[in-house]
Amino acid sequence: MKKYTISTFGCQMNEHDSEKISWILEDMGYTPTDDIEESDFIVYNTCVIRKSAEEKVYGQLGHLKDLKRRRPDLIIALCGCMMQREDVREVITSKHKHVDIIFGTHNIHKLPQLIYSNKQTGKTVIDILEENKEIEDNIDANRTHSYKAYVNIMYGCNNFCTYCIVPYVRGREQSREPENIIKEIEALAASGCKEVTLLGQNVNSYGNTLGGDYSFADLLKAINEIEGLERIRFMTSHPKDLSNDVIDSYIELDKLCNHLHLPVQSGSNSVLHSMNRKYTKEDYMKIIHKIKKIEPKIAITTDIIVGFPGETEEDFQETLDLVQECKFDSAYTFLYSPREGTKAAEMKVQVPDDVKHKRFNRLLDMLYPIGLEKNEELIGETLQVLVEEVSKNNEEFLSGRSENAKLVHFKGDPALIGTIVPVKIESCTTFTLQGILV
Ligand code: 5AD
Ligand code: SF4
Repeated sequence: MKKYTISTFGCQMNEHDSEKISWILEDMGYTPTDDIEESDFIVYNTCVIRKSAEEKVYGQLGHLKDLKRRRPDLIIALCGCMMQREDVREVITSKHKHVDIIFGTHNIHKLPQLIYSNKQTGKTVIDILEENKEIEDNIDANRTHSYKAYVNIMYGCNNFCTYCIVPYVRGREQSREPENIIKEIEALAASGCKEVTLLGQNVNSYGNTLGGDYSFADLLKAINEIEGLERIRFMTSHPKDLSNDVIDSYIELDKLCNHLHLPVQSGSNSVLHSMNRKYTKEDYMKIIHKIKKIEPKIAITTDIIVGFPGETEEDFQETLDLVQECKFDSAYTFLYSPREGTKAAEMKVQVPDDVKHKRFNRLLDMLYPIGLEKNEELIGETLQVLVEEVSKNNEEFLSGRSENAKLVHFKGDPALIGTIVPVKIESCTTFTLQGILV
Protein backbone atom coordinates (compact mmCIF):
# COMPACT_ATOMS: atom_id res chain seq x y z
CA MET A 1 0.00 0.00 0.00
CA LYS A 2 1.56 3.33 -1.06
CA LYS A 3 1.47 6.15 1.47
CA TYR A 4 1.25 9.92 1.15
CA THR A 5 1.78 13.02 3.30
CA ILE A 6 0.39 16.50 2.61
CA SER A 7 1.73 19.62 4.34
CA THR A 8 -0.47 22.65 3.92
CA PHE A 9 0.61 26.26 4.35
CA GLY A 10 -1.59 29.35 4.30
CA CYS A 11 -5.31 29.98 4.24
CA GLN A 12 -8.57 27.97 4.25
CA MET A 13 -8.53 28.00 0.44
CA ASN A 14 -5.30 25.98 0.55
CA GLU A 15 -6.64 23.70 3.28
CA HIS A 16 -9.59 22.92 1.08
CA ASP A 17 -7.37 22.36 -1.99
CA SER A 18 -5.41 19.87 0.12
CA GLU A 19 -8.66 18.03 0.88
CA LYS A 20 -9.14 17.72 -2.89
CA ILE A 21 -5.55 16.50 -3.43
CA SER A 22 -6.07 13.97 -0.66
CA TRP A 23 -9.23 12.69 -2.36
CA ILE A 24 -7.38 12.28 -5.69
CA LEU A 25 -4.49 10.42 -4.05
CA GLU A 26 -6.78 8.09 -2.10
CA ASP A 27 -8.71 7.42 -5.29
CA MET A 28 -5.37 6.33 -6.78
CA GLY A 29 -4.86 3.88 -3.92
CA TYR A 30 -2.60 5.91 -1.64
CA THR A 31 -3.25 5.95 2.13
CA PRO A 32 -2.39 8.88 4.42
CA THR A 33 0.48 8.96 6.93
CA ASP A 34 2.01 11.70 9.10
CA ASP A 35 5.43 10.08 8.96
CA ILE A 36 7.40 11.36 5.98
CA GLU A 37 10.00 8.59 6.47
CA GLU A 38 7.42 6.01 5.36
CA SER A 39 5.81 8.19 2.66
CA ASP A 40 5.97 7.31 -1.01
CA PHE A 41 4.48 10.64 -2.03
CA ILE A 42 5.07 13.95 -0.24
CA VAL A 43 3.26 17.09 -1.32
CA TYR A 44 3.68 20.64 -0.06
CA ASN A 45 0.73 22.91 -0.73
CA THR A 46 2.46 26.29 -0.52
CA CYS A 47 1.52 29.88 0.33
CA VAL A 48 3.08 33.08 -0.90
CA ILE A 49 1.22 35.77 1.01
CA ARG A 50 4.13 36.65 3.29
CA LYS A 51 7.84 35.93 3.02
CA SER A 52 7.80 33.80 6.18
CA ALA A 53 5.38 31.31 4.54
CA GLU A 54 7.77 30.94 1.60
CA GLU A 55 10.83 30.48 3.78
CA LYS A 56 9.18 27.62 5.65
CA VAL A 57 8.73 25.69 2.39
CA TYR A 58 12.39 26.13 1.37
CA GLY A 59 13.41 25.01 4.89
CA GLN A 60 11.33 21.84 4.66
CA LEU A 61 12.59 21.08 1.15
CA GLY A 62 16.16 21.20 2.41
CA HIS A 63 15.32 18.46 4.94
CA LEU A 64 13.94 16.21 2.20
CA LYS A 65 17.18 16.09 0.18
CA ASP A 66 18.65 13.31 2.29
CA LEU A 67 15.40 11.30 2.30
CA LYS A 68 15.23 11.43 -1.50
CA ARG A 69 18.87 10.30 -1.75
CA ARG A 70 18.07 7.30 0.44
CA ARG A 71 14.77 6.55 -1.31
CA PRO A 72 14.94 7.59 -4.98
CA ASP A 73 11.42 6.19 -5.62
CA LEU A 74 9.91 8.78 -3.31
CA ILE A 75 7.89 11.39 -5.25
CA ILE A 76 8.13 14.98 -3.99
CA ALA A 77 5.50 17.38 -5.32
CA LEU A 78 5.00 21.10 -4.80
CA CYS A 79 1.78 22.94 -5.54
CA GLY A 80 -0.18 26.00 -4.42
CA CYS A 81 0.31 29.73 -4.78
CA MET A 82 4.12 29.83 -4.64
CA MET A 83 4.29 27.61 -7.72
CA GLN A 84 2.33 30.13 -9.79
CA ARG A 85 5.44 32.35 -9.73
CA GLU A 86 8.02 31.81 -12.43
CA ASP A 87 10.88 33.08 -10.25
CA VAL A 88 10.03 30.48 -7.59
CA ARG A 89 9.89 27.69 -10.19
CA GLU A 90 13.34 28.73 -11.44
CA VAL A 91 14.78 28.50 -7.91
CA ILE A 92 13.19 25.07 -7.38
CA THR A 93 14.37 23.61 -10.67
CA SER A 94 17.92 24.95 -10.28
CA LYS A 95 18.51 24.50 -6.54
CA HIS A 96 16.08 21.79 -5.46
CA LYS A 97 16.48 19.17 -8.15
CA HIS A 98 15.01 16.50 -5.86
CA VAL A 99 11.51 17.92 -6.54
CA ASP A 100 9.64 15.65 -9.01
CA ILE A 101 6.37 17.45 -9.71
CA ILE A 102 5.38 21.13 -9.71
CA PHE A 103 1.77 22.06 -10.33
CA GLY A 104 -0.33 25.16 -9.81
CA THR A 105 -3.54 26.26 -8.18
CA HIS A 106 -5.73 25.79 -11.28
CA ASN A 107 -4.82 22.22 -12.26
CA ILE A 108 -5.08 20.05 -9.17
CA HIS A 109 -7.33 17.67 -11.16
CA LYS A 110 -4.39 16.78 -13.42
CA LEU A 111 -2.35 15.25 -10.59
CA PRO A 112 -2.78 11.58 -11.66
CA GLN A 113 -1.51 12.46 -15.15
CA LEU A 114 1.46 14.33 -13.72
CA ILE A 115 2.42 11.41 -11.48
CA TYR A 116 2.19 9.07 -14.46
CA SER A 117 4.30 11.31 -16.62
CA ASN A 118 6.95 11.68 -13.88
CA LYS A 119 7.14 7.91 -13.55
CA GLN A 120 7.44 7.46 -17.33
CA THR A 121 10.13 10.06 -17.91
CA GLY A 122 11.92 10.19 -14.54
CA LYS A 123 12.11 13.95 -15.09
CA THR A 124 10.70 16.88 -13.11
CA VAL A 125 7.20 17.56 -14.42
CA ILE A 126 6.00 21.16 -14.37
CA ASP A 127 2.37 21.99 -15.10
CA ILE A 128 1.09 25.50 -14.48
CA LEU A 129 -1.92 27.32 -15.87
CA GLU A 130 -1.50 31.08 -15.73
CA GLU A 131 -5.25 31.73 -15.65
CA ASN A 132 -8.23 29.73 -14.43
CA LYS A 133 -10.22 30.22 -17.64
CA GLU A 134 -12.59 27.38 -16.86
CA ILE A 135 -13.51 26.34 -13.37
CA GLU A 136 -12.88 22.62 -12.84
CA ASP A 137 -16.01 21.95 -10.84
CA ASN A 138 -15.93 18.18 -10.54
CA ILE A 139 -13.16 17.60 -8.00
CA ASP A 140 -14.34 15.82 -4.90
CA ALA A 141 -12.67 16.49 -1.57
CA ASN A 142 -11.63 14.21 1.23
CA ARG A 143 -13.28 16.30 3.96
CA THR A 144 -11.30 16.51 7.17
CA HIS A 145 -14.51 16.54 9.25
CA SER A 146 -17.92 15.04 8.54
CA TYR A 147 -19.82 17.74 10.44
CA LYS A 148 -18.26 20.87 8.90
CA ALA A 149 -16.94 21.65 5.44
CA TYR A 150 -15.36 24.31 3.29
CA VAL A 151 -17.11 25.10 0.03
CA ASN A 152 -15.54 27.26 -2.68
CA ILE A 153 -17.99 29.74 -4.10
CA MET A 154 -15.48 31.68 -6.19
CA TYR A 155 -11.85 31.72 -7.18
CA GLY A 156 -9.32 34.51 -7.77
CA CYS A 157 -9.44 38.21 -6.99
CA ASN A 158 -9.77 41.43 -8.98
CA ASN A 159 -8.97 43.90 -6.25
CA PHE A 160 -5.22 44.38 -6.46
CA CYS A 161 -4.71 45.73 -2.96
CA THR A 162 -1.21 47.12 -3.40
CA TYR A 163 0.42 44.84 -0.79
CA CYS A 164 -1.19 41.63 -1.98
CA ILE A 165 0.20 38.93 -4.24
CA VAL A 166 -3.04 36.92 -4.43
CA PRO A 167 -4.45 38.43 -7.68
CA TYR A 168 -1.13 37.62 -9.40
CA VAL A 169 -1.09 33.97 -8.34
CA ARG A 170 -4.78 33.06 -8.11
CA GLY A 171 -5.84 34.95 -11.23
CA ARG A 172 -9.01 36.89 -12.00
CA GLU A 173 -12.20 36.50 -10.01
CA GLN A 174 -14.62 33.79 -11.14
CA SER A 175 -17.81 32.71 -9.41
CA ARG A 176 -19.06 29.14 -9.44
CA GLU A 177 -22.59 28.59 -10.73
CA PRO A 178 -25.08 28.73 -7.83
CA GLU A 179 -26.64 25.37 -8.85
CA ASN A 180 -23.27 23.62 -8.47
CA ILE A 181 -22.65 25.20 -5.07
CA ILE A 182 -26.13 24.31 -3.84
CA LYS A 183 -25.87 20.73 -5.14
CA GLU A 184 -22.56 20.33 -3.32
CA ILE A 185 -23.99 21.64 -0.03
CA GLU A 186 -27.16 19.55 -0.36
CA ALA A 187 -25.00 16.44 -0.70
CA LEU A 188 -22.91 17.49 2.31
CA ALA A 189 -26.01 18.13 4.44
CA ALA A 190 -27.51 14.80 3.38
CA SER A 191 -24.39 13.05 4.65
CA GLY A 192 -24.58 14.76 8.07
CA CYS A 193 -22.65 18.00 7.59
CA LYS A 194 -23.97 20.70 9.96
CA GLU A 195 -21.87 23.72 9.05
CA VAL A 196 -20.43 25.12 5.82
CA THR A 197 -17.89 27.88 5.41
CA LEU A 198 -18.22 29.53 2.01
CA LEU A 199 -14.80 30.45 0.65
CA GLY A 200 -13.72 33.22 -1.69
CA GLN A 201 -11.14 36.03 -1.67
CA ASN A 202 -14.00 38.51 -1.70
CA VAL A 203 -17.32 36.72 -1.25
CA ASN A 204 -19.27 39.99 -1.42
CA SER A 205 -18.58 40.30 -5.11
CA TYR A 206 -19.97 36.80 -5.70
CA GLY A 207 -22.01 36.68 -8.89
CA ASN A 208 -20.27 39.52 -10.73
CA THR A 209 -18.85 37.16 -13.34
CA LEU A 210 -22.09 35.20 -13.83
CA GLY A 211 -23.63 37.74 -16.14
CA GLY A 212 -26.94 38.21 -14.31
CA ASP A 213 -27.96 39.91 -11.11
CA TYR A 214 -27.63 36.88 -8.81
CA SER A 215 -25.80 38.16 -5.73
CA PHE A 216 -24.06 36.82 -2.63
CA ALA A 217 -27.19 37.65 -0.60
CA ASP A 218 -29.25 35.51 -3.04
CA LEU A 219 -26.81 32.64 -2.62
CA LEU A 220 -27.00 32.91 1.19
CA LYS A 221 -30.79 32.83 0.99
CA ALA A 222 -30.76 29.68 -1.17
CA ILE A 223 -28.26 27.91 1.09
CA ASN A 224 -30.33 28.81 4.15
CA GLU A 225 -33.14 26.65 2.68
CA ILE A 226 -31.03 23.49 2.53
CA GLU A 227 -32.52 20.82 4.74
CA GLY A 228 -30.29 19.37 7.46
CA LEU A 229 -27.73 22.18 7.26
CA GLU A 230 -27.62 24.19 10.48
CA ARG A 231 -24.91 26.81 10.13
CA ILE A 232 -23.51 29.05 7.41
CA ARG A 233 -20.23 30.97 7.66
CA PHE A 234 -18.26 32.82 4.99
CA MET A 235 -14.79 34.23 4.41
CA THR A 236 -13.49 36.74 3.36
CA SER A 237 -15.46 39.94 2.97
CA HIS A 238 -14.23 43.19 1.49
CA PRO A 239 -15.75 46.27 3.20
CA LYS A 240 -16.15 48.08 -0.14
CA ASP A 241 -18.54 45.38 -1.40
CA LEU A 242 -20.52 44.45 1.71
CA SER A 243 -24.08 45.19 0.64
CA ASN A 244 -27.08 46.10 2.79
CA ASP A 245 -28.71 42.89 1.55
CA VAL A 246 -25.91 40.83 3.09
CA ILE A 247 -26.14 42.84 6.32
CA ASP A 248 -29.90 42.20 6.41
CA SER A 249 -29.23 38.48 5.96
CA TYR A 250 -28.04 38.42 9.56
CA ILE A 251 -31.62 39.02 10.72
CA GLU A 252 -33.43 37.23 7.92
CA LEU A 253 -31.49 33.96 7.75
CA ASP A 254 -31.63 31.73 10.82
CA LYS A 255 -28.64 29.61 9.77
CA LEU A 256 -26.20 32.48 9.22
CA CYS A 257 -23.81 32.52 12.20
CA ASN A 258 -23.54 35.78 14.10
CA HIS A 259 -19.93 36.38 13.20
CA LEU A 260 -18.45 38.65 10.55
CA HIS A 261 -14.80 38.61 9.52
CA LEU A 262 -14.23 42.00 7.93
CA PRO A 263 -10.58 42.86 7.25
CA VAL A 264 -9.92 46.57 7.86
CA GLN A 265 -6.12 46.45 7.30
CA SER A 266 -5.54 50.00 8.66
CA GLY A 267 -7.37 52.80 10.46
CA SER A 268 -5.67 55.57 8.50
CA ASN A 269 -7.36 56.96 5.41
CA SER A 270 -4.08 57.83 3.76
CA VAL A 271 -2.76 54.27 4.29
CA LEU A 272 -6.07 52.76 3.11
CA HIS A 273 -5.84 54.90 -0.02
CA SER A 274 -2.27 53.84 -0.64
CA MET A 275 -3.34 50.19 -0.12
CA ASN A 276 -6.01 50.69 -2.84
CA ARG A 277 -8.71 49.48 -0.44
CA LYS A 278 -11.37 51.89 -1.85
CA TYR A 279 -13.04 52.71 1.49
CA THR A 280 -12.32 55.12 4.33
CA LYS A 281 -12.25 54.39 8.04
CA GLU A 282 -15.56 56.30 8.23
CA ASP A 283 -17.10 53.88 5.67
CA TYR A 284 -15.81 50.97 7.71
CA MET A 285 -17.19 52.34 10.98
CA LYS A 286 -20.56 52.95 9.32
CA ILE A 287 -20.78 49.24 8.42
CA ILE A 288 -19.79 48.19 11.94
CA HIS A 289 -22.40 50.49 13.53
CA LYS A 290 -25.09 49.32 11.11
CA ILE A 291 -24.45 45.66 11.71
CA LYS A 292 -24.16 45.99 15.48
CA LYS A 293 -27.44 47.88 15.51
CA ILE A 294 -29.33 45.04 13.87
CA GLU A 295 -27.35 42.21 15.51
CA PRO A 296 -25.92 43.56 18.80
CA LYS A 297 -24.35 40.22 19.77
CA ILE A 298 -22.43 39.72 16.55
CA ALA A 299 -18.72 38.92 16.87
CA ILE A 300 -16.54 41.03 14.59
CA THR A 301 -13.05 39.93 13.68
CA THR A 302 -10.58 41.55 11.32
CA ASP A 303 -7.15 41.55 9.66
CA ILE A 304 -4.67 44.36 10.32
CA ILE A 305 -1.35 45.03 8.60
CA VAL A 306 1.29 46.91 10.60
CA GLY A 307 4.10 48.86 8.94
CA PHE A 308 2.68 49.33 5.45
CA PRO A 309 5.06 51.59 3.42
CA GLY A 310 4.72 55.21 4.50
CA GLU A 311 2.75 54.39 7.68
CA THR A 312 3.58 57.19 10.15
CA GLU A 313 3.18 57.17 13.92
CA GLU A 314 -0.02 59.22 13.42
CA ASP A 315 -1.37 56.70 10.90
CA PHE A 316 -0.65 53.86 13.31
CA GLN A 317 -2.33 55.78 16.15
CA GLU A 318 -5.44 55.99 13.95
CA THR A 319 -5.39 52.18 13.65
CA LEU A 320 -5.22 51.93 17.45
CA ASP A 321 -8.14 54.40 17.72
CA LEU A 322 -10.21 52.34 15.29
CA VAL A 323 -9.46 49.13 17.20
CA GLN A 324 -10.62 50.83 20.39
CA GLU A 325 -13.81 52.05 18.72
CA CYS A 326 -14.70 48.78 16.93
CA LYS A 327 -13.92 46.52 19.90
CA PHE A 328 -12.94 43.57 17.72
CA ASP A 329 -13.49 40.13 19.24
CA SER A 330 -10.15 39.18 17.76
CA ALA A 331 -7.84 40.11 14.92
CA TYR A 332 -5.26 38.50 12.70
CA THR A 333 -2.31 40.87 12.81
CA PHE A 334 0.46 40.90 10.24
CA LEU A 335 3.79 42.65 9.87
CA TYR A 336 3.82 44.10 6.36
CA SER A 337 5.91 41.82 4.13
CA PRO A 338 7.02 43.23 0.74
CA ARG A 339 6.02 40.89 -2.09
CA GLU A 340 7.93 41.21 -5.33
CA GLY A 341 5.72 42.32 -8.20
CA THR A 342 3.23 44.23 -6.04
CA LYS A 343 2.99 48.03 -6.08
CA ALA A 344 3.68 48.43 -2.37
CA ALA A 345 7.00 46.60 -2.63
CA GLU A 346 8.17 49.41 -4.93
CA MET A 347 7.07 52.21 -2.60
CA LYS A 348 9.99 54.36 -1.46
CA VAL A 349 9.32 54.80 2.26
CA GLN A 350 9.46 51.31 3.76
CA VAL A 351 8.99 51.21 7.55
CA PRO A 352 12.09 49.92 9.40
CA ASP A 353 11.73 46.46 10.96
CA ASP A 354 12.26 47.63 14.55
CA VAL A 355 9.50 50.25 14.19
CA LYS A 356 7.17 47.62 12.68
CA HIS A 357 7.83 45.23 15.56
CA LYS A 358 7.25 47.88 18.23
CA ARG A 359 3.96 48.94 16.63
CA PHE A 360 2.93 45.31 16.26
CA ASN A 361 3.41 44.72 20.02
CA ARG A 362 1.53 47.91 20.88
CA LEU A 363 -1.35 46.71 18.70
CA LEU A 364 -1.49 43.34 20.47
CA ASP A 365 -1.37 45.14 23.85
CA MET A 366 -4.54 46.91 22.79
CA LEU A 367 -6.32 43.96 21.13
CA TYR A 368 -5.88 41.37 23.91
CA PRO A 369 -7.66 43.22 26.76
CA ILE A 370 -10.53 44.04 24.36
CA GLY A 371 -10.77 40.34 23.38
CA LEU A 372 -10.85 39.40 27.06
CA GLU A 373 -13.52 42.02 27.78
CA LYS A 374 -15.67 40.69 24.91
CA ASN A 375 -15.33 37.14 26.23
CA GLU A 376 -16.17 38.24 29.79
CA GLU A 377 -19.43 39.72 28.47
CA LEU A 378 -20.46 36.16 27.54
CA ILE A 379 -20.13 34.73 31.07
CA GLY A 380 -23.55 33.53 32.22
CA GLU A 381 -24.86 33.16 28.67
CA THR A 382 -25.78 29.85 27.06
CA LEU A 383 -24.19 29.41 23.63
CA GLN A 384 -24.91 26.78 20.99
CA VAL A 385 -21.64 24.92 20.38
CA LEU A 386 -20.78 22.62 17.48
CA VAL A 387 -18.66 19.98 19.23
CA GLU A 388 -15.48 19.37 17.24
CA GLU A 389 -13.05 17.23 19.23
CA VAL A 390 -11.68 16.03 22.54
CA SER A 391 -9.74 18.98 23.94
CA LYS A 392 -6.02 18.84 23.09
CA ASN A 393 -4.87 19.83 26.59
CA ASN A 394 -7.26 17.84 28.77
CA GLU A 395 -8.94 14.61 27.69
CA GLU A 396 -11.89 15.10 30.04
CA PHE A 397 -12.92 18.16 28.05
CA LEU A 398 -14.47 18.60 24.63
CA SER A 399 -13.96 21.67 22.47
CA GLY A 400 -16.05 23.27 19.79
CA ARG A 401 -17.09 26.56 18.23
CA SER A 402 -20.00 28.71 19.28
CA GLU A 403 -22.11 30.41 16.65
CA ASN A 404 -20.05 33.58 17.18
CA ALA A 405 -16.85 31.62 16.41
CA LYS A 406 -15.48 31.38 19.96
CA LEU A 407 -13.51 28.32 21.01
CA VAL A 408 -15.44 26.74 23.90
CA HIS A 409 -14.20 24.02 26.30
CA PHE A 410 -16.54 21.95 28.47
CA LYS A 411 -16.77 18.50 30.05
CA GLY A 412 -18.74 15.95 28.01
CA ASP A 413 -18.99 12.60 26.30
CA PRO A 414 -16.96 12.30 23.06
CA ALA A 415 -20.12 10.82 21.48
CA LEU A 416 -21.32 14.45 21.27
CA ILE A 417 -18.68 15.25 18.62
CA GLY A 418 -20.44 16.51 15.50
CA THR A 419 -23.58 17.66 17.32
CA ILE A 420 -24.67 21.14 18.40
CA VAL A 421 -25.18 21.43 22.16
CA PRO A 422 -26.02 24.26 24.61
CA VAL A 423 -23.14 25.27 26.87
CA LYS A 424 -23.45 27.78 29.72
CA ILE A 425 -20.31 29.94 29.88
CA GLU A 426 -18.72 30.13 33.33
CA SER A 427 -15.24 31.57 32.77
CA CYS A 428 -12.90 32.72 30.01
CA THR A 429 -9.41 33.68 28.92
CA THR A 430 -8.45 36.09 26.13
CA PHE A 431 -8.80 33.31 23.55
CA THR A 432 -11.21 30.71 24.93
CA LEU A 433 -14.45 30.23 26.86
CA GLN A 434 -15.11 27.52 29.44
CA GLY A 435 -18.56 26.30 30.39
CA ILE A 436 -20.87 23.44 31.34
CA LEU A 437 -23.35 21.47 29.27
CA VAL A 438 -26.92 22.45 30.10
N1 5AD B 1 2.11 41.57 4.16
C1 5AD B 1 1.43 41.38 5.33
N2 5AD B 1 0.17 40.94 5.38
C2 5AD B 1 -0.45 40.68 4.21
N3 5AD B 1 -1.70 40.23 3.94
C3 5AD B 1 -1.84 40.13 2.62
N4 5AD B 1 -0.69 40.49 2.00
C4 5AD B 1 0.18 40.84 2.97
C5 5AD B 1 1.52 41.32 2.97
N5 5AD B 1 2.19 41.52 1.84
C6 5AD B 1 -2.69 39.98 4.98
C7 5AD B 1 -3.94 40.87 4.82
C8 5AD B 1 -4.99 39.89 4.34
C9 5AD B 1 -4.54 38.61 5.02
C10 5AD B 1 -5.09 37.36 4.46
O1 5AD B 1 -3.14 38.64 4.88
O2 5AD B 1 -4.29 41.37 6.09
O3 5AD B 1 -6.30 40.26 4.72
FE1 SF4 C 1 -5.50 40.34 -1.59
FE2 SF4 C 1 -7.08 42.52 -1.49
FE3 SF4 C 1 -7.77 40.42 -3.06
FE4 SF4 C 1 -7.90 40.17 -0.40
S1 SF4 C 1 -9.12 41.60 -1.65
S2 SF4 C 1 -7.00 38.69 -1.84
S3 SF4 C 1 -6.18 41.42 0.29
S4 SF4 C 1 -5.97 41.76 -3.30
